[in-house]
Amino acid sequence: MKIMVTGGSGLIGQRVCERLRESHDVSALDLVESPSGDRTVVADVTSYDQVDAAFRDQEAVVHLAGIPSLLPDHLSIMNANVRGTYTVLHAAAARGIRRIVFASSNCAYGMLFSKDWKPDFLPLDETHPCTPDEPYGLSKLLGEQMCAALTRRYGSDTTCLRFTTVLFPGSEKNRDFFRAVNEPGGMVAQTSLNQTGEMTVTNAGRLWGYVDVRDVAQAVQLALEAGGGGHRVYNVGAADVCSEVPSLDLVREYYPDLPELRRAERFADRPFDPLFSIDRVVEDLGFSPRYAWRELAAEVV
Ligand SMILES: NC(=O)c1ccc[n+]([C@@H]2O[C@H](COP(=O)([O-])OP(=O)(O)OC[C@H]3O[C@@H](n4cnc5c(N)ncnc54)[C@H](O)[C@@H]3O)[C@@H](O)[C@H]2O)c1
Repeated sequence: MKIMVTGGSGLIGQRVCERLRESHDVSALDLVESPSGDRTVVADVTSYDQVDAAFRDQEAVVHLAGIPSLLPDHLSIMNANVRGTYTVLHAAAARGIRRIVFASSNCAYGMLFSKDWKPDFLPLDETHPCTPDEPYGLSKLLGEQMCAALTRRYGSDTTCLRFTTVLFPGSEKNRDFFRAVNEPGGMVAQTSLNQTGEMTVTNAGRLWGYVDVRDVAQAVQLALEAGGGGHRVYNVGAADVCSEVPSLDLVREYYPDLPELRRAERFADRPFDPLFSIDRVVEDLGFSPRYAWRELAAEVV
């Protein structure tokens, strides 16, 4: 398949390109050249003409380009993530490209950056309401809705992958992540201020979720190769919680008022099963996460 990866120079994009190149004809588009040295079409996803030119002869698009956080500011996020996604989707449709994989985020639910967010039920699956109140999560939810609209209008296959926090092998940042989730009290309030000084991030709000970038690349490949599914949304995470505390103990301690705990019996056999459910992507696409946080932690501690 001829595949265009937008955001191909980014942290996830480089790994995705590397994996897809093993079995596909892959091109990458980004604002900047790839640090890997692979050829990149230097273009801005908010420019229809630039994207249209880059999409000539492509059969599929993996749309990763965008701003992956609350920085630098809300209007930049909306421009890159919402206008950029609209541009990519419609340029693809106009070129007859009917297979799209979109990098969404757990933030589409409202988790992580939204004020006072709490889950209605756990494990959190794709049937959970999405109630983001901040620009990043909102931009991802809007991106998903634009994908759904594309499927309705053009019959495109659009697969939205809601990645939880992505970890990169050997990254120094892993150390902070593991320390935060494993120190006593480290999961309670980690305050992080955004540009308006309002947001509070808690590791509980992450649901102790994470996913290794190599498993992200696996999910992208599975989504691309599956095809034929119309519009689909999947959580993509690891097979366990990033914690030395079993999942049910985390729930009892941090969500004592949780309205509903679903399928609690599963934790009897697998006490560290994720609270960010990956059941749907496992069942539909055969996703099988191979990398666990303990190995990643061992590399950097
Ligand atoms: N890293 C995570 O934990 C995480 C979690 C959930 C979702 N995601 C999503 O995955 C995608 C990739 O994230 P990442 O961690 O690799 O981020 P990254 O910042 O490393 O990569 C994003 C890439 O997009 C490019 N880009 C930004 N604006 C662009 C524009 N206007 N035109 C063309 N290219 C542009 C950047 O130059 C960069 O190379 C993003 O959409 C992000 O929101 C990331």
